[in-house]
Amino acid sequence: MTDASTLVYVLNGPNLNLLGSREPEVYGPDTLDDIAMMLEDRAATLGLTIDLRQSNHEGHLIDWLHEAGSRGVRAIILNAGALTHTSIALHDACRGVTVPVIEVHLSNPHAREEFRHKSWIAPVARATIAGLGPLGYVLALDAAATF
Ligand code: DQA
Repeated sequence: MTDASTLVYVLNGPNLNLLGSREPEVYGPDTLDDIAMMLEDRAATLGLTIDLRQSNHEGHLIDWLHEAGSRGVRAIILNAGALTHTSIALHDACRGVTVPVIEVHLSNPHAREEFRHKSWIAPVARATIAGLGPLGYVLALDAAATF
């Protein structure tokens, strides 16, 4: 069993399973597996372990946030996809755990449609990284190493 103090959950919400083929002009050419490989490499350098998951279902993300909280993992990197802009339940779940949450977006939602400007995650996140593509996940992991 991995030591929770070195474990970082990387949770991905709806439609992020389509990365690589989904609007590559917005989200880039990398798949979620490519991002997972980048993070595995970086985690090995940092002495951390990642557990990367994706679901199209809000309830799964909520359950995983609770699980991360009860395991007392080091940090949660969360790209909630479009649920970022709608889900008070995810907001509450982030609030309900003491593990720091780093919100990540591949694109910069503030430079896009107005409906993406609101984030329910931002007020309950330790930090937000947006607009840097997969590098944002890697920078979030670097930050988690300092927690
Ligand atoms: C996203 C931005 C969201 O607005 C969008 O709904 C996504 C992806 C991003 O990573 O840029 O699904 O979270």
